[in-house]
Amino acid sequence: MPPVQASKKARILSVVSAKGGVGKTTITANLGVLLAKEHKLKTLIIDADLDLPTLGFHLDLIDPDISLHDVLKGKFAINQAVHAYDYGLHIIPGSVSEENAPVKEIKNEIAQLATQYDIILLDTVPCMDEGLKNIAGASDEILIVTSPDLPSMTASLKAVKLSRNLGIPVRGVVLNKVRRKNYELSSSDVGSALGAQVLASIPEDPKVYEALFEKKPVVLYAPKSPASGELRKLADAIAKD
Ligand SMILES: Nc1ncnc2c1ncn2[C@@H]1O[C@H](COP(=O)(O)OP(=O)(O)OP(=O)(O)O)[C@@H](O)[C@H]1O
Ligand SMILES: [Mg+2]
Repeated sequence: MPPVQASKKARILSVVSAKGGVGKTTITANLGVLLAKEHKLKTLIIDADLDLPTLGFHLDLIDPDISLHDVLKGKFAINQAVHAYDYGLHIIPGSVSEENAPVKEIKNEIAQLATQYDIILLDTVPCMDEGLKNIAGASDEILIVTSPDLPSMTASLKAVKLSRNLGIPVRGVVLNKVRRKNYELSSSDVGSALGAQVLASIPEDPKVYEALFEKKPVVLYAPKSPASGELRKLADAIAKD
């Protein structure tokens, strides 16, 4: 008798930085779109920033009927919180008006969807707390987002430590909001300090702000912008694994 094949399970990546505002949500949304649109991967993005969920803002999903909060509070099953976007991308949004969802359930909830996707991306909270441990602990790989300054790098060193403590590998680092000034840390400084590969250096680009204002991912709003070019490089690196 042929061996029973285990059903394929999605790769789960959490997008992490202990510091706020460095670009986790922007990168999760745009990476998700590119993996679905250009790499034809069955992709799900999840807003696991339960305190300030803004992932849906990039996809014009501001006030979802069913959110991750509802699922974690036991009001709905996780597949009921899946919303479809263009190019076959799926998103589970959070709700900005709900609080106190029990995040420790997240791993079990996501496990129920893992055979339906090639890749699942988790947007995370900007602090090194128990919640982040639960979210990152639900993933197979960690993608660290940092900007090229000392406070952000300090936060990224904490993210590396978290990955070691959880026993989850760092897939790489995304350097974001790069201005190419001599007061910034270089890509090689960042890579060697964190002991990880820098997968993309995304410039600070006004098109990213404009795209968010229009509630569109920048890779669709301004596909030829400098930021979109580097986001594409990031998606290529993740997709070829
Ligand atoms: N490369 C970039 N160029 C210009 N603006 C950017 C870039 N990346 C992100 N931004 C802007 O920076 C702001 C913060 O980005 P984002 O919400 O993605 O960060 P975050 O790390 O998810 O923040 P938080 O920690 O609060 O969740 C947003 O207004 C976004 O449009
Ligand atoms: Mg965010």
